[in-house]
Amino acid sequence: FRMQDKTIAYVGDSLGRQMFQSMICMLAASGKHHSDVEDVGSKYGMAQTHRAKRPTRSVGSAYRFRSTNTTVLYYWSSTLCDLEPLRRSNPAAGYAMHLDRPPSFLKKNLHRLHVLVLNTGHHWNRGKLKANKWEMYASGAPNNNREIASMWKAKNFTIHGVIKWLDAQLPRYPHLKVFYRSLSPRHFFNGEWNTGGTCNNKDPLAKGNRVFQNHSEDADGEGAVKGTRIKLLDITALSRLRDEGHISKYSIRATPGVQDCLHWCLPGVPDTWNEILAAQL
Ligand SMILES: *[C@@H]1O[C@H](CO)[C@@H](O)[C@H](O)[C@H]1NC(C)=O
Ligand SMILES: *[C@@H]1O[C@H](CO)[C@@H](O)[C@H](O)[C@H]1NC(C)=O
Ligand SMILES: *[C@@H]1O[C@H](CO)[C@@H](O)[C@H](O)[C@H]1NC(C)=O
Repeated sequence: FRMQDKTIAYVGDSLGRQMFQSMICMLAASGKHHSDVEDVGSKYGMAQTHRAKRPTRSVGSAYRFRSTNTTVLYYWSSTLCDLEPLRRSNPAAGYAMHLDRPPSFLKKNLHRLHVLVLNTGHHWNRGKLKANKWEMYASGAPNNNREIASMWKAKNFTIHGVIKWLDAQLPRYPHLKVFYRSLSPRHFFNGEWNTGGTCNNKDPLAKGNRVFQNHSEDADGEGAVKGTRIKLLDITALSRLRDEGHISKYSIRATPGVQDCLHWCLPGVPDTWNEILAAQL
């Protein structure tokens, strides 16, 4: 088993969490019973994650499979930036979102990881930042660099920065393999997530079953890994063929009239992402 004694980490947004959940399920389904799985979250500073209902900040979970000594963990970092409370005494005041600093979780734990899968994308919008009370910082101060002031530029800047930083770390961790997972496509038809958008199709691959392009649809990710040892896990175009694979209106907690055409049903598309990952390991 190639993951014997290994630790695989997913760091990113809720689509990264889905890929983590997929991996946990695939490993747990391979004949081992529940007593094989041990919660090791506390070893990664994730002790109270089960109780925290709606995490305001960095959280995650980590599980170890005793029989193979494989650890699979997830750390929530929706923008791959380091977050720092603006006021230590009062986190409600908001956070500095350091565009040029990788998440401190990576700095602290890189030496313990063997496989790292990063992702970001859908959180880069003003609404999310405002809701989270995150303020963009660069060089330790509120950003006033016009070159990175727009969302898409800030995102590209951050992705390039974190990849470059990781590439520079790799010589110290020869056992570590790093992947940047490209953007997971959304499929809202006839509206957006909050204006009645739907993804009602039930026929798999109704619009075709092949990918022809020879470049990634995730230009930021593709550009960032170029010339580095970080690999692009390019799932965008193939996942775009699976518009019927989203949670749609079938979530247990669905609000009538609101469909989820961003996250995926599991088992489902994220399993394929993990199969591609496994093939590369
Ligand atoms: C489990 O794997 C880790 C590396 O991920 C290693 O440090 C540790 O010694 C292993 N434990 C056992 C009991 O083999
Ligand atoms: C993204 O950032 C990189 C590095 O700063 C830069 O070379 C590239 O042109 C940027 N891409 C876009 C689309 O602005
Ligand atoms: C990539 O695809 C484009 C358009 O489909 C084509 O013009 C180009 O020659 C292709 N490049 C390679 C290296 O195959």
